[in-house]
Amino acid sequence: MKLLQIDSSARPSSVTRRLTAKFAEEWRKNHPDGEVIHRDLSATAFPLITDDWNATRIEDSKLTPAQRSYLSTSDELIEELKVADTVVIGAPMYNFSIPSLLKAWIDQIVRIGKTLAYGPNGPQGLLTRKRVVIITSRGGAYEKGTPREAFDFQEPYMRHILGFIGLTDITFIHAENQAREEATAFFAAAAERIGGIVIDQNQQVATL
Ligand SMILES: Cc1cc2nc3c(=O)[nH]c(=O)nc-3n(C[C@H](O)[C@H](O)[C@H](O)COP(=O)(O)O)c2cc1C
Repeated sequence: MKLLQIDSSARPSSVTRRLTAKFAEEWRKNHPDGEVIHRDLSATAFPLITDDWNATRIEDSKLTPAQRSYLSTSDELIEELKVADTVVIGAPMYNFSIPSLLKAWIDQIVRIGKTLAYGPNGPQGLLTRKRVVIITSRGGAYEKGTPREAFDFQEPYMRHILGFIGLTDITFIHAENQAREEATAFFAAAAERIGGIVIDQNQQVATL
């Protein structure tokens, strides 16, 4: 079993980093023979999406050395994702959405022929049978059913784009109110949910 732990916060001891680390720790306890792959997006050099990205439409065997080199980060990130059984993503809320580092990762892993294909019925995600847990942290709160839910562009976007490549089994843990007095209590509640989700995932895997 493999866990891919992705961090995207700019801060070294951030809320999401502490929570993804806790998730990895719980997961390790439950999978003593498993492997954790840690992808820190703040330490990843991303090529910009330029016109060179059109190389993704060329058959692998026909790529020039320069095109191969341009796509090598995408190849590496997609491979990490493909081999993972579970993916945990730490996603701080920046300006009501996701950090640009996480968007840069998404731009590298959504790729025709590798993670999605277009057929007679339109686009089809090629990644399946993976569980994704997205741990967010926000200064404020955007609970479902409140007027502020409409400002949450994180959860709907992440659900849509990951669903587009076939990842539809997604659980969100939101650590809200991190800029408010009640931050500690909300952090503890998010941390508390992690143990339950790791165990619940084990049970689901056992029934697959
Ligand atoms: C650039 C930036 C933009 C932010 N935008 C929002 C926002 O739109 N809504 C919100 O509730 N909190 C916002 N925050 C607060 C963060 O979501 C909060 O500090 C969170 O804990 C960051 O996650 P981290 O601790 O994992 O880095 C922002 C913080 C930064 C640095």
